[in-house]
Amino acid sequence: MKTLLLSENENDIKQVGEILRRGGLVGMPTETVYGLAANALDGEAVAGIFKAKGRPMDNPLIVHIADIGDVEKFELVSDFPEKAKLLAEKFWSGPLTMIMPKGRAIPDEVSAGLDTVAIRFPEHKTAQAIIRAAGVPLAAPSANISGSPSPTTAAHVMNDLNGRIDAVVDGGECRVGLESTVITMVPATPRILRPGGITAEQIESVIGKIDIDDAVLNQLKSGEKAASPGMKYKHYSPRARVILVKGESYTDFVNKNRDKNVAALCYNEDAEKLRVRAFALGDRADTDSQAHALFDTLRQIDSENFELVYARCPDTDGVGMAVYNRLIRAAGFEVIDLEKI
Ligand code: TXA
Ligand code: MG
Repeated sequence: MKTLLLSENENDIKQVGEILRRGGLVGMPTETVYGLAANALDGEAVAGIFKAKGRPMDNPLIVHIADIGDVEKFELVSDFPEKAKLLAEKFWSGPLTMIMPKGRAIPDEVSAGLDTVAIRFPEHKTAQAIIRAAGVPLAAPSANISGSPSPTTAAHVMNDLNGRIDAVVDGGECRVGLESTVITMVPATPRILRPGGITAEQIESVIGKIDIDDAVLNQLKSGEKAASPGMKYKHYSPRARVILVKGESYTDFVNKNRDKNVAALCYNEDAEKLRVRAFALGDRADTDSQAHALFDTLRQIDSENFELVYARCPDTDGVGMAVYNRLIRAAGFEVIDLEKI
């Protein structure tokens, strides 16, 4: 099929609404990453998302809305817990996804057979306009081929999915650059399953203590069940092998192990000390810039055909936790701890 590259103008958004209503697939900008959207209430349309991405069928999707009232209006959940309502008022629209008991409108394809559903109200004005033009909530995972780095520009989406989907709307670069925070509101103490742009500290300031799932920072042990099915798959990976290097002597280690096929993924402060090609994500203290640059940089490293990347292990406070969570998966949990060798 021919994939249309559309703009944010009114006519194009209207056309996208029509494509979605008749069961089509559209790449849509959000403030986190680009999503691959389909009508969330149409199981057949949603099945097309899994096919286009090559996504395992047991990995559930997030349902995107354009108004807090949509949760109840479309019967998306069977219970909207008090704490979830507080978080919705504070952080929606924005990069926060909440898991709740699923409502009767949700097809099995969306929830992948679970009895819960993930809901998010994106902040990006074009995403909101697309949802309103479709007139229904939209199921949307990240718009990449399963396993590759998530797309933060329309060109990334075209790279992965050209010819497999109906259209992509170009809404520029995504502001955050990493996927939303995912939190389950089902247990009495809500639990973060995936860190993102809204931090644990921000959430706790509204609803008090929450938990952080073990799988956020650590590898699942074999046989252990993932609370968020997406966490068990290899993820965000460029073709190059990525190794996370932990410790303050990072630049010395990389310089000692340099080779023409080796690149460094590092802080701005490291770049000038390195004698290999250095891809800097931002200042050490500037976790927002690091998040914004990460996926685009991983794709760039591939386009320059490096074989091995020594990535500096990021600090994990604030949004740094999300950067670490994505990088350790891109590395397939391969870590060199310089303090231990
Ligand atoms: O920022 C985002 O969240 C982007 C944009 C497009 O909105 N979307 C996104 O979707 O990252 P995806 O499918 O790439 O990641 C969704 C994650 C997966 O790890 C999935 O397993 C988890 O959320 N998830 C979805 N529904 C769930 C549920 N009912 N229970 C547990 N985990 C769930
Ligand atoms: Mg994804």
